[in-house]
Amino acid sequence: VRTRVAIIGAGPAGLMLSHLLAQSGIESVVIDQRTRDEIESTIRAGILEQGTVELLDTIGPASRARTVGHRHDGIELRFEGEGHRIDFADSVGRAVWLYPQHEVLKDLIAARLAAGQDLRFGVTADGVDDGDRPRVLARDADGVPVEIEADFVVGSDGSRSVARAAVAGARNGSFREYPFAWFGILCEAPPSSEELIYSNSPDGFALVSQRSATVQRMYFQCDPDTDTAAFSEEQLWDELQKRVPGTTLRQGPIFQRDVLRFRSFVANELRRGRVALVGDAAHTVPPTGAKGMNLAIADVRLLAAALRAFLLEGDERLLDAYPDTASRRIWKAQHFSWWMTSMLHVAPDATAFDRRRQLGELRSVVESEHGRAYLAEAYCGWPLDA
Ligand code: DHB
Repeated sequence: VRTRVAIIGAGPAGLMLSHLLAQSGIESVVIDQRTRDEIESTIRAGILEQGTVELLDTIGPASRARTVGHRHDGIELRFEGEGHRIDFADSVGRAVWLYPQHEVLKDLIAARLAAGQDLRFGVTADGVDDGDRPRVLARDADGVPVEIEADFVVGSDGSRSVARAAVAGARNGSFREYPFAWFGILCEAPPSSEELIYSNSPDGFALVSQRSATVQRMYFQCDPDTDTAAFSEEQLWDELQKRVPGTTLRQGPIFQRDVLRFRSFVANELRRGRVALVGDAAHTVPPTGAKGMNLAIADVRLLAAALRAFLLEGDERLLDAYPDTASRRIWKAQHFSWWMTSMLHVAPDATAFDRRRQLGELRSVVESEHGRAYLAEAYCGWPLDA
């Protein structure tokens, strides 16, 4: 197979990139080792920055973020049993949309297929050969080799990226682990709150999120080695409820459970020659603050402009600048995700001093116009053009 841009990974980054390239008349091939059904049914985060929604608008009515999703104009930070609203509209005049990532993927896949995109499921990349005509070495579901020769290869293949080895080496980057994780549930119940509640309690963190009028998503801080089967439904509700004092959670059957591990990672190199990394292949953030998919979309916006200049005009300047330009936002998002995480969770080895200091930190945010504005600005997303 020959194409202009070979894209490994049909997640939000890879699919959005193929769309932006197609808008400039640049042909691409997208492969993913998963089936379409797996991609469209894997539960991930649910918050879209305003800029992400605006970029999704460019795929046309296939994007249901504004029609099926819900605009949120604020969140609540809760600590010492009291809620404090961060009003996005008031602080920064922006908003976020609650719209699950797998729904975004359904929309993007439908739009790309309708546009005639060469999009291949069940094709696993084994490696990338760099050079002037880089190649992706892959195989299809039957094990039959597939070789894609391109002008440029993009690794949008997630945290276990195969493309990363060709750019940055397998584990070549800055890395941080956290001594806790999230236990996530989906349940059939009406919403317990109109907006998201990020709650810091002596028993640990909890997040009350939503999915729809009848399905809710909630998380509570747990040990990274927690076995999801170890809790009865009643125990799960007890764990959640004791971390959200002041709100009586509306309970219902829990039909999905998962444990999300917390990691921060940034690859040392984001581009080598004619291969570049975007999204989780380039970086990972812990989930607090919901930056993962939004950051992937911001990378892609930059890389699409760089590839346009390079492939259509032979101008390599934006491509040369891509690692530095992307890094600025990546490290701001790394900081924000780390900050939200460390401010809201209770570390297993926290001392009485740590605990009081953390409450002081939360109070300095919610009681300051500027503190609230910083949080709102970062949560709703920095401008994509910056
Ligand atoms: C959700 C996940 C997040 O990490 C977050 O910060 C907010 C919401 C969610 O899955 O709904």
